[in-house]
Amino acid sequence: MKSAVAIECFSKISELKTWRAELAFNCASGAKPVLGLVPTMGALHEGHMSLVKQAQVECQNVIVSVFVNPLQFGPTEDLAKYPRTLQSDIELCRDAGVHAIFHPSDSEMYPAGRVGTTVIVPPAELTERLCGSFRPGHFAGVATVVTKLFSLVQPDVGYFGEKDFQQLAVIKRMVKDLNTAVKVVGVPTVREPDGLALSSRNVYLTAEQRKQAPILFETLRQVQARAKSAKVSILEALEEGRQTLAKLPGVKLQYLEACDLDTLKPVDTADRPFVVLVAAKFGDVRLIDNLPVR
Ligand code: PAF
Repeated sequence: MKSAVAIECFSKISELKTWRAELAFNCASGAKPVLGLVPTMGALHEGHMSLVKQAQVECQNVIVSVFVNPLQFGPTEDLAKYPRTLQSDIELCRDAGVHAIFHPSDSEMYPAGRVGTTVIVPPAELTERLCGSFRPGHFAGVATVVTKLFSLVQPDVGYFGEKDFQQLAVIKRMVKDLNTAVKVVGVPTVREPDGLALSSRNVYLTAEQRKQAPILFETLRQVQARAKSAKVSILEALEEGRQTLAKLPGVKLQYLEACDLDTLKPVDTADRPFVVLVAAKFGDVRLIDNLPVR
C-alpha cells in the first residue's frame, strides 16, 4: 500500500479540464508519458488495480475513470443492477496512490441525452462475432464512450484488461483507424486461485455457480493443451470443450472459439499465435474469459 495522498475526484468535465491543463503545465515532458488513463465502470477489484499498477510504473500520473456507460448495455441487460461502489472505489484508488478519479454523471457524459447521440461504429469484421453477436450495439457503446474519455482526459496511454479481449481488439483498431494519439496497452487477466477470472459480475454468482465457474478457465487450458499437443486439431479440441461445457447443469454456453490475436478471425491451426475465447451464462450471470496462446 502506498502512502495515502490526496486524490482529486471530479464529477464535472470542467474540473477535469482544469486539472488536465495544470498537469500539462506542471509536468515535464520527460522519459515517462505524463498521463495514464484506466477507464472502468467501477466496482473495482484486483484486476482493475493491476491496470493501475502498470500505469503507475509507466506514467508520471494516473487517472481512473468510473462510469457505468448506459450506451453499452442492451435493453435486457444488467445496467440497473450493475454494482456501483464509488466510495470504496475512491478509497482503493487513494490507497494505491492514484492521482485522480473522474466519475461523471450520465448527463455530463451525454449532455443531449444518449438516445440518438453520435456514435462510433467499429468495423463489423471485429464486432459481429463472439460477444458482438450476443450483445448487438455493445461495442459501438464501448467505442463511443472510450473516444469521449480519450478526448476529455487526453491521456498519453490507455490501459485495458485482456480479460475483455474483443473489447481490447476493437479499441486498438479504433485508435488506429481514427489516428488517435493514445497508446493502448492490454494488461493480462488476474485470476482467483482456482482460475476464475476476476470480474465485477462475479458477485452475482450463487455459491453453487461460483463452484462451477472455474470450469471456463479449465476448458480454455484443455483446448490449448490438446491443440498444442498436435494429437487433435483445434477444431476437434474446441468441439470437445463445447461438449464438456454443454453437459453442465444451469450453464448455457454462448461460444467457445479460437481466433487470430489481432483480427479475431477464426483459426483452424495451432501453428501461429491465437486466442481461445469463451462466453457462458451461469443462470443470469454472463461470464467471459480467454487464453492467448503466444
Ligand atoms: O471494460 C470496461 O469496464 C468498459 O467497457 C469500459 C472500457 C470502461 C468502457 O465503458
